[in-house]
Amino acid sequence: MPKRNMDVRNSVISLNLHLDAHCKWCVFLDRLQGKCAIVTGAGQGLGQAYAQALATEGAMVSAVDINYEGASQVADAINRGGGKALAIHTDVSDQTSAEHMAKETFARFGKIDILVSNAAIYYGIKRTPFDEIQVEEWDRMMAVNVKGSWLCARAVFPYMKQQKSGKIVNVSSGVAFSPNAFLAHYVTSKAAVVGLTRALARELGQYGITVNAVAPGFTMTDASKQLGGDITAYVQSLSIKREQMPDDVVGTVLYLCSRESDFLTGQTIVVDGGRIFH
Ligand SMILES: NC(=O)c1ccc[n+]([C@@H]2O[C@H](COP(=O)([O-])OP(=O)(O)OC[C@H]3O[C@@H](n4cnc5c(N)ncnc54)[C@H](O)[C@@H]3O)[C@@H](O)[C@H]2O)c1
Repeated sequence: MPKRNMDVRNSVISLNLHLDAHCKWCVFLDRLQGKCAIVTGAGQGLGQAYAQALATEGAMVSAVDINYEGASQVADAINRGGGKALAIHTDVSDQTSAEHMAKETFARFGKIDILVSNAAIYYGIKRTPFDEIQVEEWDRMMAVNVKGSWLCARAVFPYMKQQKSGKIVNVSSGVAFSPNAFLAHYVTSKAAVVGLTRALARELGQYGITVNAVAPGFTMTDASKQLGGDITAYVQSLSIKREQMPDDVVGTVLYLCSRESDFLTGQTIVVDGGRIFH
């Protein structure tokens, strides 16, 4: 394993990422050497795992979050490990902020090859009957989870179009295919991400840009833990009967960011241990 990649990995693991020390994606191939990736919502949870994995594969990473402190910690850890990362404070629901994210990334790294649109309102959501969800809460969910992915794709598009290549990976959820009750706003937003992914794939293929999505199952991040509930029955409903960890999703995201997926677009890959087949 190249020393730089080992250093990046160890440095970020020291941030208490929920990563298995023997994680399987740590077969470093330097698949993304020289590429530049933006990861939104990189300040914690799954976004943090994606940022680290992209860096260990050699990509320069913009760690983007509305939580600048979290993003900075992730970027610092990657830099300490010998990778190249930049933290950018961004509210993905704001057009000017999303455009600033792309501009800053290009100014620092000279290109934008990959966008992982992972930022979402997930931490802190509460199960609520659909007719009791506040209108403001519904609107904010759509603004971040749906409009945010659209605005970020829109912001990186001029750079990818110029380069005639790009990889956009949106983050949906298994709930888009098998919804939970009492999360109508979240479920709707994640189903919309599937539609956005398909619509953008149709438009952007002509520019050499692929647009795909990953739909994780219930993954043990801090956000999932605060949502609470007994997950014993859920785990039993999986084909692979164990809890899902962030590490279980990163391999698919790396694949969607790499040239191995160059002829795949408009697809949503469910990564959930074999619960939903679609
Ligand atoms: N954890 C799971 O079980 C699970 C399952 C399926 C899909 N997902 C999706 O994966 C992604 C990450 O999940 P997680 O568990 O790490 O959630 P999380 O809530 O811990 O992380 C979301 C990140 O997005 C950031 N964010 C929120 N609003 C933002 C905004 N307006 N602009 C920029 N950044 C913003 C947050 O600060 C946070 O760092 C989310 O899109 C979530 O919907 C998670």
